[in-house]
Amino acid sequence: VRGVRSTVDIRPFEDGDAEGIARLSTIVEWPSLKHPEVVRAVCTAPGATAYVAVADGELVGWAQALGDGVLQSHLSFVVVHPDHRRRGIGRLLVQATFQATGTKRMDLITDAAQAFYRGFEHKTMAGFRIYPGA
Ligand SMILES: CC(C)(COP(=O)(O)OP(=O)(O)OC[C@H]1O[C@@H](n2cnc3c(N)ncnc32)[C@H](O)[C@@H]1OP(=O)(O)O)[C@@H](O)C(=O)NCCC(=O)NCCS
Repeated sequence: VRGVRSTVDIRPFEDGDAEGIARLSTIVEWPSLKHPEVVRAVCTAPGATAYVAVADGELVGWAQALGDGVLQSHLSFVVVHPDHRRRGIGRLLVQATFQATGTKRMDLITDAAQAFYRGFEHKTMAGFRIYPGA
């Protein structure tokens, strides 16, 4: 029914989710994740934890973190489909992913989502992204 929101399922990444994540990455213009085989590698890498959000059978969000299983993790990706934002899905994805890493703290860098991360218990630090050049 129009205007009635469906429930959202937050569950661990499964192999068949890669196509949906690749489609979502294309919609939000994250070109490095537009190929399902890259998504699959990212989500199943050693130390990786990934969760997806599914509404009415459609994949509407996902998150991925890399962790050491004990102390420290790094949140690499979280994205929610533009039509499904501000419903708490992003927050649930981060909470589920963080919890599943089994770590005590999670670092991340962001340009655009400061307001989103400020809603978590946090401290801010300066971040760098380095590239393989000299
Ligand atoms: C950031 C993102 C994942 C948030 O997903 P979401 O499902 O909309 O987030 P939530 O609904 O869980 O938001 C939780 C709270 O964060 C804050 N928040 C989220 N998006 C916000 C925005 N655009 N502006 C201001 N506050 C925001 C609000 O306090 C919100 O609570 P409220 O809706 O009750 O006010 C989503 O906007 C997104 O996919 N953005 C593009 C990709 C991106 O920037 N990813 C993060 C960097 S890797």
